[in-house]
Amino acid sequence: MLTGKHLRCIFFLSLALAAQAATTMWFNSTNVIPLGNGRLGAQMLGQIPDEVVILNEDRIWSGSLNDPNNKNCAVSLPAFREFVWQDDLYHAQATADAECMATPLSQQMYQTAGNLSIVTPHTGVITSYNHSLDMATAVSTTTYVYEGVQYTRTAFASHPDNVVVIQMSANSTGSIAFNASFVTPMSIPTFSANGENLTMTGQGTGMFGLQGSINFVVTAEFTATGTNAQVKANSNGHPSVLISNADEAVIVLAIDTNYVRYDDISADPNEKVVQTLANVRGKTFDDMLQTHVEDHSSLFGRVDISLGVPSTATFLPTNLRIKFPQGADADQDIFALYAQYGRYLGIASSRNTEASNLQGIWNSVLSPAWGSKHTVNINQQMNSWFAEPLNVAETLDPLWTMISEVAERGVATAQETYNISRGWVGHHNTGIWRDSSPIDAAFYGFWPLAPAWLLQHMYEHYAFNPDPESSFLKNTAYPLMKSLSEFYMDFLVEAPLDVEPNGYIVSNPSMSPEHGIGNYNDTNVSLTYGKRTSPLLTFN
Ligand SMILES: *[C@@H]1O[C@H](CO)[C@@H](O)[C@H](O)[C@H]1NC(C)=O
Ligand SMILES: *[C@@H]1O[C@H](CO)[C@@H](O)[C@H](O)[C@H]1NC(C)=O
Ligand SMILES: *[C@@H]1O[C@H](CO)[C@@H](O)[C@H](O)[C@H]1NC(C)=O
Ligand SMILES: *[C@@H]1O[C@H](CO)[C@@H](O)[C@H](O)[C@H]1NC(C)=O
Ligand SMILES: *[C@@H]1O[C@H](CO)[C@@H](O)[C@H](O)[C@H]1NC(C)=O
Ligand SMILES: *[C@@H]1O[C@H](CO)[C@@H](O)[C@H](O)[C@H]1NC(C)=O
Ligand SMILES: *[C@@H]1O[C@H](CO)[C@@H](O)[C@H](O)[C@H]1NC(C)=O
Ligand SMILES: *[C@@H]1O[C@H](CO)[C@@H](O)[C@H](O)[C@H]1NC(C)=O
Ligand SMILES: *[C@@H]1O[C@H](CO)[C@@H](O)[C@H](O)[C@H]1NC(C)=O
Repeated sequence: MLTGKHLRCIFFLSLALAAQAATTMWFNSTNVIPLGNGRLGAQMLGQIPDEVVILNEDRIWSGSLNDPNNKNCAVSLPAFREFVWQDDLYHAQATADAECMATPLSQQMYQTAGNLSIVTPHTGVITSYNHSLDMATAVSTTTYVYEGVQYTRTAFASHPDNVVVIQMSANSTGSIAFNASFVTPMSIPTFSANGENLTMTGQGTGMFGLQGSINFVVTAEFTATGTNAQVKANSNGHPSVLISNADEAVIVLAIDTNYVRYDDISADPNEKVVQTLANVRGKTFDDMLQTHVEDHSSLFGRVDISLGVPSTATFLPTNLRIKFPQGADADQDIFALYAQYGRYLGIASSRNTEASNLQGIWNSVLSPAWGSKHTVNINQQMNSWFAEPLNVAETLDPLWTMISEVAERGVATAQETYNISRGWVGHHNTGIWRDSSPIDAAFYGFWPLAPAWLLQHMYEHYAFNPDPESSFLKNTAYPLMKSLSEFYMDFLVEAPLDVEPNGYIVSNPSMSPEHGIGNYNDTNVSLTYGKRTSPLLTFN
């Protein structure tokens, strides 16, 4: 029979187990583990013998700033609206496609920096492999045993030190040996190896008729310890750094670009990288680790989630748990892990510089799915939903900057696309160039209501901390809400009485994003006006 005391013990034990499991993910096979300091991203694949670390910086995008606004739109808008009133939605959408869309029609993409390749001589049988992420510390660890020696790779992306740090260690002296080099698919790449550094430079690619203009520099600095340890830069062939006979090696990576703001790309990325590395030179791995863990846990450590009692499924590798081998109810802890992973990803991909994009910050290619942009017809919103309730509201700071800068560019879009001289407007995607024009196709893009939805997040930010004197409210949220409202005041039009017999003032165009409302002339259309579809609410 279980006494109350026993039950309490079991309860506390299971809470302890659950609490531990709910911040750790691990794999017994290679798997992507994303690290990020909000600006820099590193994907640890955990491969043996040849590790690949995919590198990102959140301002490495294709193309350059341009004027995308379609100057024909304001003139064509009355005709567009007339087609809508006539319920000729085919010609309405065709008019918007022909006269209102941005040039170029597609928006620039988020791109990769490239890969750090780490080639080890561990080509034989590997045992005791474990590739894990501790989200409470934001440290990834890969351990395995090869020929009787246990090897460990420990990595993190430090926000305060502004670098990605990878330590290669073993439980036997002189065992660390590898060959490190960079590769990139980016434009005009250069590679060099000097002393204890490896450097790669490149440029965002030209795309959709716009030249590439983001220049970036990636430098890795290598240190090795051990009596016979060697670090050798090799410039014969593809530049590389060879480490041999080391007890331990540490790789410190800095990445930077020429981006300052959407309208200023005058920074010197090399100078920034040299400065960043100079700032951490002389710090030990343990120093940097401690600084990083203190910083990360000050955000991540605010929330503990424990759900029920762990089951045997709770202790499976994470990739097997998400298949719910014993049914979803058997492993409630996975939901806690999932919520914490959301918080982890927000902290890792959205601090100080850019808000998280469609892929957060992690991307290995030139042309990722949907351009890995900031898609603001739900995806950017979804990236943000957890931030206030799960107490990492700081991760929205870059979103406020992004919206403010879209609003700067959106003044011209309001004028040129809608002939509205008050306020600003944006549409369903944006990026580091802070695009505010309708893109892709009218079906998706001709949707000036996107910013209203974005500003809902600013309202929520205020509602979670309702301080009427806050600088956020006074200097950011309220001015943006007011000026956007002014745009909408001028944007609303009176529906003709034969369309709306009660004489409503409505939005035209309007749509439910990406929801076709039916076929007109064999074409799916989304654009219509803000039609009343149910009886008006009445207030007594
Ligand atoms: C990983 O762990 C699962 C569950 O214990 C096991 O079935 C599988 O064989 C393991 N895979 C490897 C590569 O060890
Ligand atoms: C823009 O609005 C102004 C003021 O209402 C009006 O005079 C002008 O004709 C409009 N321009 C176009 C292109 O519709
Ligand atoms: C792998 O490492 C993680 C993190 O330390 C740990 O929770 C997990 O139990 C380990 N898996 C195995 C099979 O040892
Ligand atoms: C290193 O770890 C492996 C695997 O755990 C073990 O077999 C070996 O004895 C250890 N070597 C030393 C020197 O501790
Ligand atoms: C970087 O690594 C990823 C994963 O292995 C790979 O898909 C990608 O092609 C690599 N990039 C280059 C330039 O080799
Ligand atoms: C190290 O890697 C580079 C890049 O792949 C290669 O050119 C070089 O030959 C390698 N060095 C050794 C000693 O394997
Ligand atoms: C390369 O490393 C040396 C020290 O080994 C340092 O003095 C130099 O500034 C480094 N270069 C860059 C670009 O970081
Ligand atoms: C119209 O497009 C929407 C969204 O792409 C789609 O869900 C819907 O099925 C389409 N309708 C028709 C009639 O093709
Ligand atoms: C149907 O579409 C064609 C072009 O594909 C257009 O020429 C025609 O005017 C449209 N007819 C109607 C009734 O909308």
